[in-house]
Amino acid sequence: MVLSRLSNFVQIIYLYHQAIFMKSLYTICYVSKTAPELKEQDIEELFNYTSKANNKNGVSGILLHSLGNFFQVLEGDEKHLLQLFEKIKEDPRHAEMYEVYNKRTTQPVFDNYKSTFDIVKNSDDLKTLITYLNLDKSNSTNHKLKRLLKPFDMLGEF
Ligand SMILES: Cc1cc2nc3c(=O)[nH]c(=O)nc-3n(C[C@H](O)[C@H](O)[C@H](O)COP(=O)(O)O)c2cc1C
Repeated sequence: MVLSRLSNFVQIIYLYHQAIFMKSLYTICYVSKTAPELKEQDIEELFNYTSKANNKNGVSGILLHSLGNFFQVLEGDEKHLLQLFEKIKEDPRHAEMYEVYNKRTTQPVFDNYKSTFDIVKNSDDLKTLITYLNLDKSNSTNHKLKRLLKPFDMLGEF
């Protein structure tokens, strides 16, 4: 009786701790079309802003620009990511967004990839990324990302 009460109490404390202190890990992946008026310098500025902001806010992932498209994967705290994504969706620098996924995750792909949010700027960066994705064959998200990145790799136009 006393043991069962104690066990219930421990369970309640655990759930309370989970709810208050544990942050849910979230991931979003999308492709979008670059606004036609965007110049190379605008894209460079966006890259600089994004890597600085994401590194400051503990967001990992990748951002790639090629063939008039953006391709982005974001991983991080759910609340932060959902707020950030609302801003990204409204950003006039791109349009026609196609969401590949938008979900909670327990298997982040990029938390061990480089030490910073990664901007994929050329074919060599993309090759390094694909080699990294090949390392973990058990994660189905890695597989999906490799498939999505293949056209960029084949055409190699940065
Ligand atoms: C393709 C694309 C990707 C972006 N990715 C990020 C990002 O990962 N992190 C970020 O802070 N801002 C990103 N931004 C910029 C945001 O849309 C927004 O301008 C920025 O968060 C500043 O918002 P604020 O002025 O309301 O603080 C991105 C914009 C575009 C067009």
